[in-house]
Amino acid sequence: MMIQPANRISEVKEYYFSKKLREIDEMRQQGIDVINLGIGNPDRSPSEVVLEELNAASANEGNHGYQSYIGIPELRNAFSGWYQKHFKVTIDPAKEILPLMGSKEGIMHISMAFLNKGDKVLVPNPGYPTYASVSNLVEADIVSYELKEELNWQPDFEALEKMDLTQVKLMWVNYPNMPTGANATLELFEKLVAFGKKHEILICNDNPYSFILNDNPLSIFRIEGAKDIAIELNSLSKSHNMAGWRIGMVAANPTFIQYILRVKSNMDSGMFKPLQLAASKALSLEKDWYVEVNKEYLVRRELVWEIMDILNCKYDKNQSGMFIWAKVPETITSAVDLSDKILNEAHVFITPGTIFGKQGDQYIRISLCSKQEVLEESITRIKNSINL
Ligand SMILES: Cc1ncc(COP(=O)(O)O)c(C=O)c1O
Repeated sequence: MMIQPANRISEVKEYYFSKKLREIDEMRQQGIDVINLGIGNPDRSPSEVVLEELNAASANEGNHGYQSYIGIPELRNAFSGWYQKHFKVTIDPAKEILPLMGSKEGIMHISMAFLNKGDKVLVPNPGYPTYASVSNLVEADIVSYELKEELNWQPDFEALEKMDLTQVKLMWVNYPNMPTGANATLELFEKLVAFGKKHEILICNDNPYSFILNDNPLSIFRIEGAKDIAIELNSLSKSHNMAGWRIGMVAANPTFIQYILRVKSNMDSGMFKPLQLAASKALSLEKDWYVEVNKEYLVRRELVWEIMDILNCKYDKNQSGMFIWAKVPETITSAVDLSDKILNEAHVFITPGTIFGKQGDQYIRISLCSKQEVLEESITRIKNSINL
């Protein structure tokens, strides 16, 4: 007897990184010391007060049971206060916030809550691969929209208006943008909200990078009336060095939150209370926390720029977020070839932009989540072994 998997997974490829990590593991087993500059996984600790709260709350016998589906009031209030303080946006903690186990799961919950089979979804190219894979899992039809360097990686609204938008139900946007590092502007959010309202398309802004190398965090909810048509995801993964904790949130109007909750409440049974209490502490940290986090990224960014310079790659120095995105020289036909060459010859892994969509074909992306000495070692290796 052959048990076949469901059709829906046939469209979903193994996550590129899990395949690549296996390859890197194999190289390491052969004794090759590979440096991985690919993944945006913050390597530093959360704030001391956050760890203290986690420890103290874990020691309390009453904190180990199931929790409510909607998060404890302390955490919802903390998210609301965080948005008010840093984004200048008012979100009702009782009705407009749902804590999540990272923003990634929110992409699935939102898709399940709003998309029927055959509905169309606008997905950015280049973009975070999960938007497309989740769309495939819910059997929605992907309509890819191009982000172009000439437009500073913002959506091309003229081109969008010319597309057939009937049956498009949802649009994924992500500013500050991953992988390109392009920042958000209020003007962009204004255009997105107007576009969503005009065509009755739900605009989902995925916003996990707003505190990294960015002095002015922006939310789509700064635009008046945005809650009628937009949803925003946010996360503590990057802003608070808590990627493994799996803490994020979705903000939306109360009706949308109820739709999403109908999915989520059937998938998990609440988040561990000490994590929620500690996350609440993280959200109340003052500005100096973000300054400290960024101080290190600023130094690392210089080193990554140096790697890009050695590789003759061109990049914008005003990028936000946790990566540097750069264009490979004209002489290189594909970023995958360049990435493989650097992996095989310098034993350094750099992400080829191709994995974020066709528009990424001529780009590479380096993460800022490696220590300075690792970046310095990468510079030495690449200098000594790569001849372009
Ligand atoms: C654009 C984007 N959205 C969402 C996520 C997921 O983050 P989280 O850890 O909050 O699930 C990532 C993580 O790399 C990301 O790059």
